[in-house]
Amino acid sequence: MTTIKSLFATRLYHAQLGKIDTAELEASCIAIAEDDEAGQNWCEEHGYPGYTSYASLTDLPWRFPIFKDLVGVIDQHVAAFAKDVQFDLGDKQLVLEDIWINILPEGGIHTGHIHPHSVISGTTYVAMPQETSAIKFEDPRLPFMMAAPARVKDVREELRQFVYVVPEVGDILLWESWLRHEVPMNMAEDERISVSFNYAWS
Ligand SMILES: [Fe+2]
Repeated sequence: MTTIKSLFATRLYHAQLGKIDTAELEASCIAIAEDDEAGQNWCEEHGYPGYTSYASLTDLPWRFPIFKDLVGVIDQHVAAFAKDVQFDLGDKQLVLEDIWINILPEGGIHTGHIHPHSVISGTTYVAMPQETSAIKFEDPRLPFMMAAPARVKDVREELRQFVYVVPEVGDILLWESWLRHEVPMNMAEDERISVSFNYAWS
């Protein structure tokens, strides 16, 4: 008897937020970005395309009710994902560490990165114009594969070295924070708006 199984799974959670008015969330993200001069300056100084609130606003859920509601919903998705990956949390919890807005203009790009100091990270999608970028996930074992041949063209998803996901507005994606990902160039004329977050175990 021959058996072949997959080991060392990388789980990716994809669901719909539900309960959140994404039009209101979009309007809030744009209004916050327009008001946040410190954030705009930070983006300019650091050559960051578009806008992120990451460096300037650390209290979105306390300042804006819609973000408070959003965090309540994300908490539930994170709890479901933690169950799926079978974390034994002991007497600690998964706690929101950061949540921030990303506005990526035409031509903008977020190069590959992981989210250090966190356990679960994710993004929820607020404005996804047609033809805008997918999110691209990378096999964490990629550096070990230097002598391996490429895989066949229609390789099944679990064996790919890169996986592209195109979420819709109102979707939420969650992954373990060590999983490297990037947002390739936004080729759409309109802005791609998302809200990202990190959960820590504490
Ligand atoms: Fe990220």
